[in-house]
Amino acid sequence: MSAPSDAELLAAADAVAAAAYAPYSNFQVGCVVLAKDGRVIEGVNVENAAYPLGVCAERTAFSRAVAEGYRPGDFVAAAITASPCGGCRQWLHEMGVERVVFRNGGRVVTMTPGELLPESFEL
Ligand code: THU
Repeated sequence: MSAPSDAELLAAADAVAAAAYAPYSNFQVGCVVLAKDGRVIEGVNVENAAYPLGVCAERTAFSRAVAEGYRPGDFVAAAITASPCGGCRQWLHEMGVERVVFRNGGRVVTMTPGELLPESFEL
């Protein structure tokens, strides 16, 4: 089967956002990551009563992927229902995803991690 299009990935992110656990912000976010082997891995934001402990949808998607054996460089695209926060831009950079597709207001934006986070931190 051919790889899903960016529009299909974003539609999948929209669908999975309904599974988010976001009772404090009521802002549900979905993220799907397309791996080079064709797998699509989903994530949602998971909040906590101790607010700073909540995790973003991007981080749950990549954490899930890493737990299944994927590594930086194994990813083609990430599709997100919201503009990625600053911390998640660093994650997108670390994971080496080729392109990031996301909604921002009424627009759909496609950018590379380098464009999202220029002069990024590296050890
Ligand atoms: N959120 C994400 O899941 N990803 C982002 O990149 C932006 C913010 C979540 C975190 C929190 O649960 C909610 O959106 C409101 O900030």
